[in-house]
This record gives sequence, C-alpha cells and structure tokens, in this order.
Amino acid sequence: MANRILVIDDEQGIREGVKRALAPQGYMVETAENGEQGLALFRKEPFDLVLIDVMMPGISGIDLIREIHQVDPDAICIIITGYATVEMAVRAIKEGAYDFLTKPFTIDDLLLVVRQGLERRQLSLETQRLRRIEEQARKLEEEKARLEELDRAKMQFVRLVTHELQAPIAAIHTYLRLILDGYVSPEEQRRVLEKCLARAQEQMKLISDLLMLGCIQAQIQEGKVEELNMDEVLQSVVERMEPQAKEKGLEFRVWVQPASKIVLGNRDHFLSVWTNLISNAIKYTERGFVEVTLRTEDGKVIGEVKDSGIGIPEDEQPHLFEEFFRASNAKKGSQQGTGLGLSIVKRVIEASGGEVWVRSKEGEGSLFGFWVPLAKEETSNS
Ligand SMILES: Nc1ncnc2c1ncn2[C@@H]1O[C@H](COP(=O)(O)OP(=O)(O)OP(=O)(O)O)[C@@H](O)[C@H]1O
Ligand SMILES: [Mg+2]
Repeated sequence: MANRILVIDDEQGIREGVKRALAPQGYMVETAENGEQGLALFRKEPFDLVLIDVMMPGISGIDLIREIHQVDPDAICIIITGYATVEMAVRAIKEGAYDFLTKPFTIDDLLLVVRQGLERRQLSLETQRLRRIEEQARKLEEEKARLEELDRAKMQFVRLVTHELQAPIAAIHTYLRLILDGYVSPEEQRRVLEKCLARAQEQMKLISDLLMLGCIQAQIQEGKVEELNMDEVLQSVVERMEPQAKEKGLEFRVWVQPASKIVLGNRDHFLSVWTNLISNAIKYTERGFVEVTLRTEDGKVIGEVKDSGIGIPEDEQPHLFEEFFRASNAKKGSQQGTGLGLSIVKRVIEASGGEVWVRSKEGEGSLFGFWVPLAKEETSNS
C-alpha cells in the first residue's frame, strides 16, 4: 500500500511544491495549512510521515510532534525550517522529530529525507511485529506448560480415584469368596455380610462424591442455578445433622443473623457444602460443641462451622482442600472418610465466586468458613 504523507505548512508554495515532488513517486500526499488542521487530518487517519513547518501561527511544530506521537508513536516527523531556526529544529529532534530539512531545499534533498524516514518507520514496525510474535510465542509456551500440568494433575487424579475405588470392592470380593468357599461358619456369615454392606456403602458414597465433584462446574455453566435462600438450605441440613450431634453428646448451636440471604447457586451443591462442613465437625469432635453461624456482611453471605474437636496439624492445613487428603490425626482415629468432602466444598464455593478458609489448632478445634456473593439485598417476607 502506498505510504501516506502529510505536509503541514502555512506557505502554499511549499505545500504544493512538496506535493508535486512526492506524488509522482507513488506516495499519497495530503496537505494542511496549519497545525490544528493537520492534527485533525492525522487523527482521522494516521500518516506514515509528516513534514511540519516549524514556524507557523497557532500550535507550534514541537507541540505538534508530541500530539502526533500520541496518536502513533512510530509516525515519522520531519521538520521544515528556515536557516535562522536551525536551533529550533535541533530541539525538535530532541522532542522526537526524525530529521529536518532546511529551506530552501532541492527535490533530491526532500526525496532522500523522506525515503530514509520511511525506511526507518518500516524498520520499527517490523521490530514491533517481531516483538509481538515473540510475545505470542512466549504466551503459547506458557499455555502449553499449563495444559501439560493440568494433564499431569488429571492423570494423578485418575490414579488416586482408581486406587480408592479398588479398596472397597477388593474387600467385598474377599469376603464373598471366603463365604462361598466355605471358610465362614453359618453363625459368622451375618457379621461378614454386614462388613460387605459397609464397604459397599462406602463405595457408593465415594461414587456419589466423585459424581458431585465432576459435575459442579458443568452444572453451573449449564445454568442449573437458582436464587437460594441460604437460611432454608442450612435449616434443612441442620434438621438432619442435629440428632447425630446430640447422639454423640455434643452441644449443637446454630446462630443465624436475621436478614435475608439470597445467593445464586445450585441447591444440591449448597446442601452438600453444609452437610460436609457440619458432618466433619461432628465426626471429628468427641466432646464439647459444634457451632454453626450464618450472617451477611458487605454484600457477602458468610457461613462458619466451629467445633471443639481434634483439630488439624498446622503443617497439614494447606492440603485440606485437596482431593482425597486426610490429615494424619484423622487417619489414626476410627473415623472413616474418603477425603473428598472439603474438595467439593471448595469447588462449589469458588465456582460461585467465593472463598473458603480454615483456622484450626490440633487438639483444640477447628473453624471452617466460606463466603459467597449475596445475590440481592433484602426481599419481601413472602
Ligand atoms: N472439623 C474438622 N476437624 C478436624 N479435622 C477435620 C475437620 N474437617 C476436616 N478435617 C480434616 O480434613 C480432612 C478432609 O476432610 P474431608 O471432609 O474432605 O474428608 P473426610 O471427612 O475424611 O471424608 P469424606 O470425603 O467422607 O468427607 C479430614 O480427613 C480431616 O483430616
Ligand atoms: Mg468429610
């Protein structure tokens, strides 16, 4: 495409002379008789090269260079100057002009400086293009590394899942084999079958947790979300869990701030969040209390579950929300678990744009909390 050149000079003779000299070389030349007009033309559609008379009424040549470079930092500005103003031309070069032409100048002088200017522009555009390509290549490289990492994590997850799925089924298989091969007396059979049942239940819970974990993101993306009243969701979980806490002799406290707490989410997901947090608190607490609180603050709905249970060793706390992670003190205890509950909690909360946290001291107790955005302020009591 032809290079676009703009001549800004208040002297008609120069404007026309320059245009007459450049047009036959295949350049597209436009002219303006003052800085303001030139700038307006430039802003409308930038030029590759601008020839600017340094001495014009109105906006000065130097200010013009600055304005032009604000639109296109790579536009080439060449100052046209009378002999007496060479000093000013030098200043203009410091301000970013590429070169200057001293009046009177020949067509050859003009063509030489224009050609050099355009070459320089070509070069800097090319450099920029290369830099952009390098930047793109770097980003692609980063993206590739990220995908590889994701792939590794996925494979690791599949290995863990397979391993976890294998244990219960292998146990069930062994028990059944023992019975069928006649190694278990009729009196013993019921006890062994009950063990089978327990392992089968464990397997079913594992599978339903895995299903839940796998579909959280997808369900939210598919728009399977609604306005949920968090009080009501919590209430239905509390009704189910409270008897379990009482049975263990734990004090079960619930404190709900009287304000509406509508959040955007999937009801099953949030039932699972509360169920996991409260069941953990009950499961890992032998005496004392379990305390559930729900409140709003600064456009956030905040839920917390606190207990006076076994706590979590400090150095293990960073891993709590990882799939299948179980703390060493929990594994030593009699409580079974697959270590997926908290991963589900974290995924649900983060998919809703919120955050989870934990504060815990081994032997003293734990506090698990989360916030999610409030979908809307106070609604009617209907
Ligand atoms: N309230 C708590 N007190 C002490 N430790 C806890 C508590 N909640 C979670 N933990 C620790 O975090 C680990 C992960 O919890 P998570 O709920 O993910 O798994 P889990 O309870 O072991 O099994 P499940 O998947 O069946 O819930 C637990 O194994 C336990 O070590
Ligand atoms: Mg759990």
